[in-house]
Amino acid sequence: MAKKRVAVLISGRGSNMTALIEAAKAQDYPAEIALVISNRPSAPGLARAREAGIATAIVDHAPFGEDRETFERALDEELRTHRIDLLCLAGFMRVLTPWFVKRWQGRMLNIHPALLPQFKGLDTHRRALAAGVKEHGATVHFVVPEVDCGPIVAQERVPVLESDTEQTLAARVLKAEHRIYPQALRALAEGRVSLTSCGEEKGAG
Ligand code: GRF
Repeated sequence: MAKKRVAVLISGRGSNMTALIEAAKAQDYPAEIALVISNRPSAPGLARAREAGIATAIVDHAPFGEDRETFERALDEELRTHRIDLLCLAGFMRVLTPWFVKRWQGRMLNIHPALLPQFKGLDTHRRALAAGVKEHGATVHFVVPEVDCGPIVAQERVPVLESDTEQTLAARVLKAEHRIYPQALRALAEGRVSLTSCGEEKGAG
């Protein structure tokens, strides 16, 4: 079967993007990373993608101001030009409109540095430490219009240690992220998971 063409959307350093690129090098991996797009021209991940020989594009959100949908139309155009099948958000710091989410519904994953539904949003490690939880982790989920809310595809738990700081906990979670994102993308590309199989009700959204 032809490999699925995947675009990874980033805004920053791109370590999850790199984990996906590395995994996709395996011959039996069902997806290829065909494109990396950043909404920030200065994202360090862009250079890492180019070094790996991956096509890159910048769709800067700044000139679009408050007009999210026009920004997303430019993004969508880029994805269509590269005949992209699946999308992976990896540290992509833009909230997407329902228009874009609907367009990619069931074909778009996100990685979140917490055990959803716990700790949606930002600063998850600081909040996990403040809450005194004994376990924390990472989640890959389908993207739905509500932020950090889609059906879960993969999760990995990590322990929270007495001695942890935000940095040590973040590093432990990041290792888990790099393990589960390639696994989740493989499952989606092989058709082993879908929005409905992961819990979204039929006809919802
Ligand atoms: C990761 O912790 C990811 O879970 C979150 O943003 C961070 C991105 O890191 N959404 P990187 O750019 O993949 O290194």
